Amino acid sequence: MKIERRPLVVANWKMNPLTRDAVVKLTQGVKKLLQKIDDVTVVIAPPSIFTDAVATSRSSSKNLILGAQDAHYEKLGSYTGSVSLAMHADFGVEYVIVGHSERRRAGETDELVNTKVLAILKAKMTAIICVGEEKRDKSAHYFSDIEKQIRTALLKVPRSRLEQVVIAYEPIWAIGTGDTATAEDVYEMRLFIEKILSDVYGRNYAAHVRIIYGGSVNDKNARALFEEGRVHGFLVGGASLHPEEFARIVVATRM
Ligand code: PGA
Repeated sequence: MKIERRPLVVANWKMNPLTRDAVVKLTQGVKKLLQKIDDVTVVIAPPSIFTDAVATSRSSSKNLILGAQDAHYEKLGSYTGSVSLAMHADFGVEYVIVGHSERRRAGETDELVNTKVLAILKAKMTAIICVGEEKRDKSAHYFSDIEKQIRTALLKVPRSRLEQVVIAYEPIWAIGTGDTATAEDVYEMRLFIEKILSDVYGRNYAAHVRIIYGGSVNDKNARALFEEGRVHGFLVGGASLHPEEFARIVVATRM
C-alpha cells in the first residue's frame, strides 16, 4: 500500500470572509502564490455557502483541494440548516473537518464525531479529525482525554481506510490565541498519537494516518513546528485568511 507522504496544509476559514467577492479574491490570491508548488497538498475549507465560489475560482488549479468545515452524515432529509456529505461531494469536496473544538463546543460529541467519520470514509472522502485538550494540567491528564477522543472517533474504522484519516492535534488553548504549543510538545503528542494508533491497528497501518498540528500557526513558527514537531502538516485558521502568510506556511512544509 502506498503511503501518502506529501505534507498537508489545510486552510480553515471558519466563518470568513464576509462576501463572495472576498472569497474569489482570497482563492485567486492563494492560487497564484501556490501555482508552482506541487509537492504539498493544500486544502481550502470555506464556509459551505462559498464552496462553489472557491471551486470556480480555483478552476484548473490541481493543487488546491476543496474541503468542508463540517457535514451532516445523512445523505438527505429533514435536517434544517445542515449540508450533507453527498452535497459537498457534488461540489468536489474531498476533505472534511470533523470534531473541531468550535463544533464540539456547539454539541458535537465523540460519538457523533465517530458517526461522521464513518460516513466520510464511506463517501470516499478524507476525515480530518480534530482532537485537543482544553488546558494542560501538571499531572498530564490531558493525554487520556486525547486518547479517548481518538479511540472513540475511530471505532469501527477498518485499517484499510486509514489513508483517508488525518488526525489534527489542536490544543484548544492554542486556537486563535497566539499561544502555540512548543515544537517539543507537538512532537511528544505526535508520538503519543502514533502509539495509540499502533495499539489499535499495528505499527505499519498506523503509519498511514497523517498527523497535523493546528493552533496559532503562523509564518514565523511554522518551520520549527514542522521540522522539530515532526508533523505531516498544519490546520491553519486565522493566518489562512492572508494569502501571502498562508503561502509562506505552505512553503515551510517543503523538505
Ligand atoms: P488558528 O485556528 O490558526 O486561528 O489558531 C486553528 C483552527 O481552529 O483550526
